[in-house]
Amino acid sequence: MRKSAKKVSKEKKGGAQPLLQSAKGMRDILPEEQAWWRRVREAGEEIADFYNFMRIDTPIVERAELFERGVGSGTDIVEKEMYFLKTRGDRLVLRPEGTAPVIRAYVEHGLSRLGQPVKLYYTGPMFRHEQPQAGRYREHNQVGFEIVGGEGDPLYDAQSIVIGARLLHALKIKKIIVRLNSIGCRVCRPVYRRKLVDYYRRLESKLCKDCKRRLAANPLRILDCKNEHCLEFKARAPVVMDYLCSGCRNHFKGVLEYLDEVGLVYVLTPHLVRGLDYYNRTVVEFFIEELGIALGGGGRYDYLGELVAGRRMDVPAVGVSLGMERMVAAMQAQGTSGRERPKARVFLVQIGEEAKRKALGLIEKFREANIKVIESLGRESLKSQLRLADREEVDLALLFGQREVFEGTVIIRDMKSGVQETVPLEKVVEEVKRRL
Ligand code: HAM
Repeated sequence: MRKSAKKVSKEKKGGAQPLLQSAKGMRDILPEEQAWWRRVREAGEEIADFYNFMRIDTPIVERAELFERGVGSGTDIVEKEMYFLKTRGDRLVLRPEGTAPVIRAYVEHGLSRLGQPVKLYYTGPMFRHEQPQAGRYREHNQVGFEIVGGEGDPLYDAQSIVIGARLLHALKIKKIIVRLNSIGCRVCRPVYRRKLVDYYRRLESKLCKDCKRRLAANPLRILDCKNEHCLEFKARAPVVMDYLCSGCRNHFKGVLEYLDEVGLVYVLTPHLVRGLDYYNRTVVEFFIEELGIALGGGGRYDYLGELVAGRRMDVPAVGVSLGMERMVAAMQAQGTSGRERPKARVFLVQIGEEAKRKALGLIEKFREANIKVIESLGRESLKSQLRLADREEVDLALLFGQREVFEGTVIIRDMKSGVQETVPLEKVVEEVKRRL
């Protein structure tokens, strides 16, 4: 009895609170993982630069309507997974994806005045309230490439697919399957949709609960269902390729020819549909069998411009985006290393109060000369600082103690040979530069 009374009083004082952890599906990227992230970010930027993409950053918060209209109100992303913000005014959400915001920005700022097509890339976090599992988080990061405006030439479909593949190649991620399909346009897709509905109506009683709902709301999404029984029916379902109009067939043929031209291997995947409604014609996924997930995906979305603008508008567009968490996971699974921070080559060892005070100023001198110096100003003993310098594998250590401060000198120690030399303080940067 007495014990529990004690516990209550402790809790009252605020002593026994549960440990706060990150929210479900959210994760920290700790320093030990940053080398992979660095490599993914750098490779994304290099590829964007090479193919002449301009960076665009859109807000993390957007109006819900953007995705309801753009991604589609019948999709899982919009129906179940959006994070709504509690605000007094607008209905705002955390963006679940990056393509609709890019098109919003393109229309809003009249980017059609630039040379077309405009090539834009972005990196950043997306939020989806999904059931977390391996490779699926509620906050994830994407690097995305969008080619907007122009003529809707199949060349750009091919180029965006090539860019996705090049990024994965640059990261040395192997065994990627590029899955490809065309899902037609406003003219031919309704015909296919009717055929699909006819086929599934007969099976309706055997479909899973979600697919029964999808049959009325968004029948193409049935093809994306992972339920065992639904998968069996999918094998015999009509394929969209058989219903493409001549315009879509020729366009898709063009995409394949361009891909053949650059020697990119793909797998035609007749039942590939994507989880977002804005696609027409080409759809693509970069699948990695080893992990059983897509590292990226995309396709053409010629109608998104007018959905966002709310009026007739011709904005042909195509793009892909790749999941950064998943690329990092693939690199780690395949034993590919990340990119470490550039190592410092100089370590500043300071001994005594006076030297410590002057050390900050000395480091700034090196900063001006763009020479990276590390220190351990919290440590006092020469021995422990030298041990650290050894561990950091620097080339030179600078020894700076009471006597050096007094004489206005610094000792430069070559860490390999152990040879030391005293140089005047005002010459030390120059001398270090010479030795490096
Ligand atoms: P998405 O397929 O929904 O497409 O997402 C692109 C990639 O983001 C996926 O292939 C996956 O690697 C990663 N991803 C998606 N959801 C999660 C999650 N919950 N956890 C971890 N990674 C995830 C789009 O978002 C389109 N905007 C792609 C696009 C660009 N279409 C045209 N242009």
